[in-house]
Amino acid sequence: MPNNKSIEFTLDNKTILATEGQTIAEAMMAAGHKTLRISKEGTHQGVFCGIGVCFGCRMIVNGIPNIRTCVTPVTYGCSVQTQNEADFVNTKEGIHEN
Ligand code: FES
Repeated sequence: MPNNKSIEFTLDNKTILATEGQTIAEAMMAAGHKTLRISKEGTHQGVFCGIGVCFGCRMIVNGIPNIRTCVTPVTYGCSVQTQNEADFVNTKEGIHEN
């Protein structure tokens, strides 16, 4: 039986309503937000595979970068931020803020 309970989360400090059980990417698309991250070249990126394989949907969730939002469910009050990859540097240990 479908669950239509609404839950709130924030996207770049704006409140978004989602339906419990939706992934972050699903909730964002339903609310009209297609940009999940901005590449180092400045292009806006959205969902590509939608099944957790390509990492194209990576965002900052609760302060943690590189979360695959197409397979991560929305949780009440979670904080989601567009990942601007110009702000990050790659190291052996992972991706860190400049
Ligand atoms: S869109 Fe490919 S991992 Fe999420």
